[in-house]
Amino acid sequence: MRFLFLGDIVGRSGREAVFKQLPALRHDFKLDFVAVNGENAAAGHGITEKIYLEALHSGIDVITTGNHAFDQKDALIYAERAERFLRPANYPPGTPGKGAAVFTTAKGARVLAANIMGRVFMQPALDDPFAAAEKILASCPLGEQADAIIIDFHAETTSEKQAFGHFVDGRASIVAGTHTHVPTADAHILPQGTAYMSDAGMCGDYDSVLGMDKEEPLQRFLSKIPRRRFEAATGKATICGLAVEISDRTGLAERLSPLHLGPHLQQAMPDFWN
Ligand SMILES: [Fe+2]
Ligand SMILES: [Fe+2]
Repeated sequence: MRFLFLGDIVGRSGREAVFKQLPALRHDFKLDFVAVNGENAAAGHGITEKIYLEALHSGIDVITTGNHAFDQKDALIYAERAERFLRPANYPPGTPGKGAAVFTTAKGARVLAANIMGRVFMQPALDDPFAAAEKILASCPLGEQADAIIIDFHAETTSEKQAFGHFVDGRASIVAGTHTHVPTADAHILPQGTAYMSDAGMCGDYDSVLGMDKEEPLQRFLSKIPRRRFEAATGKATICGLAVEISDRTGLAERLSPLHLGPHLQQAMPDFWN
């Protein structure tokens, strides 16, 4: 099975790059499943239902989020009916929407997708992410109810992300980190077969501060006084993510590669799907 995970879409430039290029990537790589973090898709702040629907139309199978899941207030409403929208599973009980769901690919494979948020240096601090993962994996184990399991672990620190990766190693196909908006250089397969990358990076304009127009963040560091709202940078976006070949037999990772496609970063593409 061929999986592509893309990190946080930031603003219009990130949306346009992903929505425009994904159909070709999906076709050329013969992708079975595409998951994308959309928590910053609406001008950097959350995701509207309209953008969520556009994302599905472009060929995305599931949209994950994080601490910005509910920045757009309509998400509190549509999260309940949007089958392919995930917010972190470890929000308190009663939070609208869901943090995990099973989807069936065109070839009939059952894919469990989960979104879980870390707690170190994160606001809001949610329930225990490790306990949340345990509960989800126990209810839908790899090789039993699921043919593949992909987890977006949305967290600030590489330590919490690495610990989480080891916690689910051999029990999930992919753990892809999100939230920092900067891709890490540590994509590898963990000892028990889980594809792991501390952060997939963002899909946005890298001539920026984390996808936001660089002027206001820089001024805040210099003067400590907010002058205006952060606005998404408008330059051409680079798409960043993680491509993984998953065994049909075991549901574990066989090959992986970072994907960087766009103007600012060193390009990276999987070479095993040509
Ligand atoms: Fe983000
Ligand atoms: Fe985030």
